[in-house]
Amino acid sequence: MWGEGRRWWRCMGGGLGVGLMVVWVVRVCLILTITLLMLLVSLLLKNRITLQEADASIPVQANVYAFKEALEASVGVSGDSGKSSVKVLPGCPSTPPHLVGEVKVEESVTVKEAEARHGASVKYGGFSWPEHCEARWSVAIIVPYRDREHQVGAFLNHMHPFLQRQQLNYSIYFVEQDGTELFNRARLLNVGFLESHKEGPWDCYAFHDVDMLPENDYHLYHCSAQPRHLAVATSNNKYRSSHGILYHTYYGGACLMGEGHIRKVNGWSNIYWGWGGEDDDMWRRITFADMAVWRYPAHFAKYKMIKHKRQIVNEDRYKILKRNTGRYPYDGLKNLNYTIKTVTRHPLYTHILVDIGSSSAQDDPTNKKFSGHNNKKT
Ligand code: BGC
Repeated sequence: MWGEGRRWWRCMGGGLGVGLMVVWVVRVCLILTITLLMLLVSLLLKNRITLQEADASIPVQANVYAFKEALEASVGVSGDSGKSSVKVLPGCPSTPPHLVGEVKVEESVTVKEAEARHGASVKYGGFSWPEHCEARWSVAIIVPYRDREHQVGAFLNHMHPFLQRQQLNYSIYFVEQDGTELFNRARLLNVGFLESHKEGPWDCYAFHDVDMLPENDYHLYHCSAQPRHLAVATSNNKYRSSHGILYHTYYGGACLMGEGHIRKVNGWSNIYWGWGGEDDDMWRRITFADMAVWRYPAHFAKYKMIKHKRQIVNEDRYKILKRNTGRYPYDGLKNLNYTIKTVTRHPLYTHILVDIGSSSAQDDPTNKKFSGHNNKKT
């Protein structure tokens, strides 16, 4: 047995054979290591390319200076960019770097106090944009308004730094209903869309109540592929309900829509006078137009509602809602009548005073018997 082993050893050339085997093993190991390294490098490169492609798919505002110039030309805002200073800024990161998460809401701030705090970082008329990068989104913030002077300061004081930390191009428009007619939130939103559109370009429009203040700045006001309901969980409802919302089709308080979404549904209905119903109507328009309402999780999409006087409720809203779908093509942006009374630029916002007509005019042709409105205080 032992003798056979020695013969085999001799056959293999003894020590020389072992040496060759070691060299061969080392070669194989080297080849394997190099192949693995190459695989790793190609994987890393592939990931980088995927990320770049993903970034490129997000429509980015062409150039922040072009935005400034467009604004200056259209509304006479004096920015600090001259034609000579045109330069291309790097795109803002997809996750804004200065977000803080939970933000405290200060309810008692006057407009003067808000101006003193934020006047330096906002251009006259309520415009703002990031100084050091090219914003990914331009958003018009449209606030339907009447008789809420005490809430304006709190809103401006809260929203400007909130939107600035999100590195947006944005502007705030207050659209005030002239006269003493019942409040028509939806008409004001339509007017706000059409009037702010003239001063764009805006990628999307936030329809935002003055008393709704977001409590977490991770709740991004970035535009989405589908209309987005913003005010998911609100303090007046104890941030409650199944899935964090009041009811499944709730669309009130604040929402964000692209121009395409708005035009596809012919804007908001014009026929809801008094409190309620117009947001439910918009939900139906969106789903009827085969779109979906998106929402962020309730722990981000949290809003504090500032207390205010009771409003007159539209007791007919459910009746009007029932007859909604057939009405969409002609009740909305297409048949909206209004007269702009004044447009005033304030340090932190633009104020549009508008006459939107009266509720006594029969404005729902789908209901010939419908004679007026049944409203009571809530
Ligand atoms: C009204 C909506 C309102 C909701 C929540 C509904 O009855 O029609 O307009 O947003 O209540 O308050």
